[in-house]
Amino acid sequence: TIRCQSTSTDGPKTRNLLDNASNLLTNFLSGGSLGSMPVAEGAVSDLFGRPLFLALYDWFLEHGSVYKLAFGPKAFVVVSDPIVARHILRENAFSYDKGVLADILEPIMGKGLIPADLDTWKPRRRVIAPGFHALYLESMVKVFTNCSGRTISKFEELLERECLQGGEAIELNLEAEFSSLALDIIGLGVFNYDFGSVTKESPIIKVWLSSNHSLTYSLLRAVYGTLFEAEHRSTFYVPYWKFPLARWLVPRQRKFQKDLKDINDCLDGLIRNAKETRQETDVEKLQQRDYSNLKDASLLRFLVDMRGADVDDCQVSNGKIYLAANEKDFIPTVELRDDLMTMLIAGHETTAAVLTWAVFLLAQNPSKMKKAQAEIDTVLGQGRPTFDSLKKLEFIRLIVVESLRLFPQPPLLIRRSLKSDSLPGGHKGKKDGYAIPAGTDIFVSVYNLHRSPYFWDKPHEFEPERFLAQRNSEGIEGWAGFDPSRSPGALYPNEIISDFAFLPFGGGPRKCVGDQFALMESTVALAMLLQKFDVELKGPPESVEQVTGATIHTKNGLWCRVKKRSDVH
Ligand code: HEM
Repeated sequence: TIRCQSTSTDGPKTRNLLDNASNLLTNFLSGGSLGSMPVAEGAVSDLFGRPLFLALYDWFLEHGSVYKLAFGPKAFVVVSDPIVARHILRENAFSYDKGVLADILEPIMGKGLIPADLDTWKPRRRVIAPGFHALYLESMVKVFTNCSGRTISKFEELLERECLQGGEAIELNLEAEFSSLALDIIGLGVFNYDFGSVTKESPIIKVWLSSNHSLTYSLLRAVYGTLFEAEHRSTFYVPYWKFPLARWLVPRQRKFQKDLKDINDCLDGLIRNAKETRQETDVEKLQQRDYSNLKDASLLRFLVDMRGADVDDCQVSNGKIYLAANEKDFIPTVELRDDLMTMLIAGHETTAAVLTWAVFLLAQNPSKMKKAQAEIDTVLGQGRPTFDSLKKLEFIRLIVVESLRLFPQPPLLIRRSLKSDSLPGGHKGKKDGYAIPAGTDIFVSVYNLHRSPYFWDKPHEFEPERFLAQRNSEGIEGWAGFDPSRSPGALYPNEIISDFAFLPFGGGPRKCVGDQFALMESTVALAMLLQKFDVELKGPPESVEQVTGATIHTKNGLWCRVKKRSDVH
């Protein structure tokens, strides 16, 4: 705290000036006027060696569910309470934008949905959300099973070779395998492009072998490079990437620019192809297309064919798209590319991470693995999952959501207040809440919410069945507790059922558009893996270290021993 005492004899005017200066300095040093909010004085050294979100959990237990984290001149409000999260994400959502996250992601995703400011976001969301309609999702199940089938066949072949040499298990980095699988799925689902990364060796090794490999390599590298870059940027006080010439002078930035260009060129080509075969029609008609006969069921196809999405008035030259018409028409094509890029990144590593942590948790809980396999045997036998059978794979679905509870992707949601606001105090918080000024940076810690001892029994334990047992908890003012009837027909628990105690896909208007896609994809992939194989961790669980970019991933891979199920012949 800075104390500034006026000793001036010039009267109240000078004293006021000094007091104001003192306040300004105090605010600056403590990161803004956040009144009586508890403060966690974050030492940068607290963060060394472990991800930020874990340190935020310890401070949550110490300082409560709304606290200010001050790192020198930089400060964030950290929110770990469902009532406050609901206020920021839903009730007063349009008073916030993505703040630091937009600064970090805009160079990558442009004006894509995730970083977009509210004015850009509103019309784009209206265009994209209908693309995830029921028939599209149903048709995607085939894409999920086909791609997962390729992964399973690959494991079977490797295992067969191993058995011929007298072995019974193969050692695999399943995180890398899931990453390839999720990339293949997102490529096909969003823009009907088959990366084929599951069936190729790691694209990181096979660089520049052919134009196709180099393309895959570039895209994968760009995705990982991007996430690494995002993590790096989010922990840096100085936005070094904004320095003039940084993109040319700093080698990593140069590489980053090259990766981005590769992705953009690829997406431009795909948009061009889709436009050449455009069949314009109304949204309702598109949503009722016969998907069983559609060669290209992708989201890009939907967005290009949709009447009103003004994408055909353009010229193509040197692989770039130029629009002949006025500036207004220029927006849709560029934004389309930004949105595809956003979905490629948003839908790839997140889903891979869910599968990674689901296996990590199951491998430590063999009885749950057996229970899951028993359900799979009953529902699927040796067959593949279908849209209808997903409804019967209840335990697998609960494993997916429990994995997302324990390892939410991303663990923190980032916001910045556009105007001053009054945050509710939250459960056990200050009764009259906290006033925050415009420009306040906020972390809504989904990780803390999902492991809050106030809202979950044994919060750190892997207990998929907990979602069946969760009942309305009484006595917490302002929080409605758990109640499945609030979201009738939902296949998976969500933020509505839990009144924001469980929000793996965020909540409110900026909730994930791909949530059902991702949940079904994870359920299919997990069911098909466990249908055939038993999985064990290669080393002790403690050796699997966590690191974060936009998601929680492992430091050195999820190394597992994979073998044929002993109880199926
Ligand atoms: C937004 C999580 C998969 C596309 C979000 C948000 C979360 C999230 C938490 C909200 C971010 C915020 O409020 O700041 C996840 C997880 C996934 C997943 C955990 C996988 C398990 C996908 C997939 C797609 C996708 C497969 C697309 C096919 C998006 C988009 C947004 C978004 C476009 C921005 C929505 C908007 O602002 O309107 N995602 N996501 N996500 N996600 Fe996902």
